[in-house]
Amino acid sequence: MLRKLMRTRKAILPDAAQIHELIATYSGDGTLLPRTLAEICENVRDFVVLEDDGRIMGCGALHLYGTHLAEIRSITVAPWAQGRGGGGRLVKALMTEAKRHRVGCICLFTRKPEFFAAQGFSVAQRDDIPDKIYKDCHACPRFHCCDEVAMVRGDLPKFAILPEPAGFGKSTSSFVQLRL
Ligand SMILES: CC(C)(COP(=O)(O)OP(=O)(O)OC[C@H]1O[C@@H](n2cnc3c(N)ncnc32)[C@H](O)[C@@H]1OP(=O)(O)O)[C@@H](O)C(=O)NCCC(=O)NCCS
Repeated sequence: MLRKLMRTRKAILPDAAQIHELIATYSGDGTLLPRTLAEICENVRDFVVLEDDGRIMGCGALHLYGTHLAEIRSITVAPWAQGRGGGGRLVKALMTEAKRHRVGCICLFTRKPEFFAAQGFSVAQRDDIPDKIYKDCHACPRFHCCDEVAMVRGDLPKFAILPEPAGFGKSTSSFVQLRL
């Protein structure tokens, strides 16, 4: 029988446990943010999975902020399946999803900038992506010593849709919320 090709597809709830396992492989050392099974179930519609012969070997998610911004998160390929083009396929599938929603800018934070540069992303200043800061970074213990690289593809957002968290301005004097 012919071997089926590696392909991506939208995740469904029965995939959640395998997605959880894939992310857990790389969340222990901080490469990926940990995600609980409950969070994955709740947000399963954000996820795309990579499968080969019906076996799930990778995943990635696209979090939508609005047409001005979406974020690629939790992207990973199982260690035994890396280097075969699966990561590139996941990015492509998530970019297609972003395009379907008419999103103008895709962002991500990573410690693997070379991989994403090869996928057409450029390094940005994290202040260029205020929604991401307001949603996650402001509460992160590593906010002032972040070792992740902010990257974007598309036009930088001109505004933030999320409100600035209470007390945020006090600790970050140079931050600009609205760029219109
Ligand atoms: C990063 C990751 C998703 C890449 O998946 P992959 O299936 O190995 O990647 P691909 O085979 O599609 O590689 C695509 C291209 O990126 C390059 N690449 C892959 N991993 C790379 C890395 N860590 N650093 C630099 N370049 C890398 C490949 O050489 C390839 O280049 P080519 O097209 O010129 O040959 C995978 O290594 C992984 O899951 N890592 C652990 C989790 C992680 O770091 N996720 C990203 C955090 S934001």
